[in-house]
Amino acid sequence: MSHTPGEGKHRAQWASSLGFILAAAGSAVGLGNIWKFPGKAYNGGGATFIIIYIIIVALIGTTAMMAEFVIGRHTQKNAVGALRQLNKKFSWVGGLGIFTGFLIFGYYSQVGGWVIYYIASYIICPSKIFADSQAFFYEMLGANGFPWLGAIVCPLIFMGLVIFVIIKGVEAGIEKINKVLMPALFLLLIVLTVRSVTLPGASDGLKYLLTPDFSKLDFDTVLMALGQAFFSLSLGMGIMVTYGSYLKKEENLVKNVGLVCTLDTVVALLAGFMIIPAVFATGVEPGMGGGFAFISLAGVFEKMTAGPVFGCMFYLLLFFAALTSAISIMEGTVAYVTEEKKVSRKKATALIGVSTFIIGILYTLSQLYASIKGIWFDFANGVTFPGFGDFLEFLTDRLLTPLGSLTFCIFVGWIWTTKKGIAEVERDGIYSFKLKNVWAVLVKYIAPLAILAILIGGMVFGLALS
Ligand code: PHE
Repeated sequence: MSHTPGEGKHRAQWASSLGFILAAAGSAVGLGNIWKFPGKAYNGGGATFIIIYIIIVALIGTTAMMAEFVIGRHTQKNAVGALRQLNKKFSWVGGLGIFTGFLIFGYYSQVGGWVIYYIASYIICPSKIFADSQAFFYEMLGANGFPWLGAIVCPLIFMGLVIFVIIKGVEAGIEKINKVLMPALFLLLIVLTVRSVTLPGASDGLKYLLTPDFSKLDFDTVLMALGQAFFSLSLGMGIMVTYGSYLKKEENLVKNVGLVCTLDTVVALLAGFMIIPAVFATGVEPGMGGGFAFISLAGVFEKMTAGPVFGCMFYLLLFFAALTSAISIMEGTVAYVTEEKKVSRKKATALIGVSTFIIGILYTLSQLYASIKGIWFDFANGVTFPGFGDFLEFLTDRLLTPLGSLTFCIFVGWIWTTKKGIAEVERDGIYSFKLKNVWAVLVKYIAPLAILAILIGGMVFGLALS
């Protein structure tokens, strides 16, 4: 069997450039953009956080994404196979990414299930949510008996949809669904943002998002923005290696990196402009922790005319975002199992589905345990492990994802060398990589140092990083 770069046998490919961009953007745009970003922007001082975030994405996010794309496109292999082909000693770098994705998928599919529960509830019984949004949320998690719907049925529906798309394959499944869901997501986001910024009293929120106050800027905010950028751009798990591996050789990588990073950031910003002005206008206590999207936001929809309709639209938006990201996480693992372990796509998907589902159930149950003990899981603050869920999130968001990005950048910068990376982008001079020298410095020095700062900051100081 040949191992010449680019000669993967019967390997799938994206049918079109747009299909790839939407799929990669679909991976990047997820719960991180809509659920986490607005809260971080709020806590990080609004405009100040946004400016720092944009600088980080432009410098470090694009750099690390390019590092993953060049590895994938060059080798046309899954994350482990790709690294093994380039340097046998480093296949563990890909393995680390696959392992992280495996863990994240567990809780991602649970939260995806909760979103389905909320879509249905906003249709069937919005008044029950408005009556006591906190009690409603805990009930879903099992406060009054085993959470059949919250932990089993709804996550199973979500997981089932992901599996359905994955089994259909790269082009007929992933590319197709992203081509439908991503434009729909944009449309919903725009409608909801217009609704939010035109609410009476929204201007205070807008002011908060538009007037920077650099006196409030501190190290903590910068680290929080860095961690958020890596998670939001789906970096550090080899997912962009896998998606890049289905790219045709004639694709322009610079353009693709630019577009995916821009789309992801635009969605995060729109989500900020969708949520923060509404929160200011309705005077809801923001408390932007993990429960924000499920508990506090109910107060916003309750005060809005046609609130249940907008509520339903919001969770539909969250659902589309979560689904396309979950698909990418699972594809990273499925590509590895099918190619390296020679298991069929169907079998691999079933195997991964069942095992991650077990991790996921433990996650939801641990949320209840945490809330009973009065320790709500908080994405933004502190490193306490009241339950398995917190431990899982600490492990994935704060530790393994940055560690994964660090190793990918060091691998491309120092082991495989930037020269080969640049050659892959330029394709014998077909494309000119104008910023190649800048990228080389960023991938070798700046990105690894910045990521080390997140890691050390998170470990030593327990700063707000995820
Ligand atoms: N980027 C996704 C989000 O913002 C999450 C994700 C992380 C997806 C890593 C894939 C890989 O929600």
